[in-house]
Amino acid sequence: MSERTITNIEDLERAYARRVPRVFQEYVTSGAWTESTLKRNLSDFEDLQFRQRVGVDISNRSTEATILGEKATIPLALSPVGLLGMQHGDGEILAAQAAEEFGVPFTLSTMSICSLEDVARNTSKPFWFQLYVMRDLDFMRDLMQRARDAGVSTLVVTLDLQVQGQRNRDLKNGMSVPPALSAATILDMATRWRWGLNMLKTKRRSFGNLVGHVKGLDDMSLLVEWVNKNFDQALDWNKLSRIRDEWDGKLVLKGILDPADASRAVEVGADAIIVSNHGGRQMDGAPSTISMLPAITDSVQGAAEVLLDSGVRSGQDVLRARALGADAAMIGRAFTFGLGAKGKTGVTEALSLIKNELELTMAFTGSVKNQGIGPHVLLSYPPNTVPVN
Ligand SMILES: Cc1cc2nc3c(=O)[nH]c(=O)nc-3n(C[C@H](O)[C@H](O)[C@H](O)COP(=O)(O)O)c2cc1C
Repeated sequence: MSERTITNIEDLERAYARRVPRVFQEYVTSGAWTESTLKRNLSDFEDLQFRQRVGVDISNRSTEATILGEKATIPLALSPVGLLGMQHGDGEILAAQAAEEFGVPFTLSTMSICSLEDVARNTSKPFWFQLYVMRDLDFMRDLMQRARDAGVSTLVVTLDLQVQGQRNRDLKNGMSVPPALSAATILDMATRWRWGLNMLKTKRRSFGNLVGHVKGLDDMSLLVEWVNKNFDQALDWNKLSRIRDEWDGKLVLKGILDPADASRAVEVGADAIIVSNHGGRQMDGAPSTISMLPAITDSVQGAAEVLLDSGVRSGQDVLRARALGADAAMIGRAFTFGLGAKGKTGVTEALSLIKNELELTMAFTGSVKNQGIGPHVLLSYPPNTVPVN
């Protein structure tokens, strides 16, 4: 095996680091302020130990899941990640295709480079669309209509970014689209020639869902100012209720980290919630999502599906999230590393690695079916409880 054989997501991250310019790389890897929440998202997963079980017939294991009524190969979906098209040319299209072929849901971000229409034209199944709530109601309605026309099955409304967290590394790198061209950035980009050549092959290099559709945003350099002015800081549960009324498809509320908010989400009629702290990019000092999951699933009581992201880097993490009550996990950075490193193949590779880790750990814990996974697979569960399968 060569030194560069990829056996886990960390290897994909290393390959990614060699290929993508630092300004876009750190946009992905960084967290808010001291990055304590970013780190805790990972370490709290690691701290959860499995119960090793033997003497169970595990010959017919199945990772198959149903997420919001859709069949999935594993209990996993791709979280919305902005600017994928800057990690790799046509990044959103490639990630959506990889997800569709693998059999897991893909979520397109409002802040994507490829537009809703681009992704719809290049895929054959409905995908999910993530919406940021803006003050300009006409633009919001227009975006929701475009999502309907593009055949979007599920609207994911993100609630934890009405104001932007401070990411120090982004500020220091002059992260913007296009990036501020300091001498260091130009020098760094010059050494990433494979990334550069690939970017030259596509015309998609601006925010596909926004540019040309909103007033006052003809020039990309105005984007940050536009976002600051337009994200609706008055967003409350009444407004979310109105969005629920206007959207006939599945509605998912993302950015829930507190049991009280999970109950409100159920009250406004969400079909699912995503337990998320935005991958540690918004409020530093917030708890990890996995540590909040049991209290949140308790408060939801099965009235909505519970999805979880932030810190999922392996199939073992997917199993841990399932064990503590999530119906499925989601990944942001894990598939983005694959995309930046190798395009569509890299996303497939990330998903395959995670599936393999999940299958193996299911075997070691005596879990035959995804549906049978519960708290009994974890060591902290009362030891005298008999596993369901
Ligand atoms: C580079 C980057 C961009 C993101 N952009 C968005 C976005 O546009 N909309 C959104 O709702 N969440 C966005 N997120 C948050 C992800 O959807 C997800 O919550 C987070 O990545 C999960 O943590 P993980 O990266 O540890 O898996 C972004 C995350 C990253 C890393």
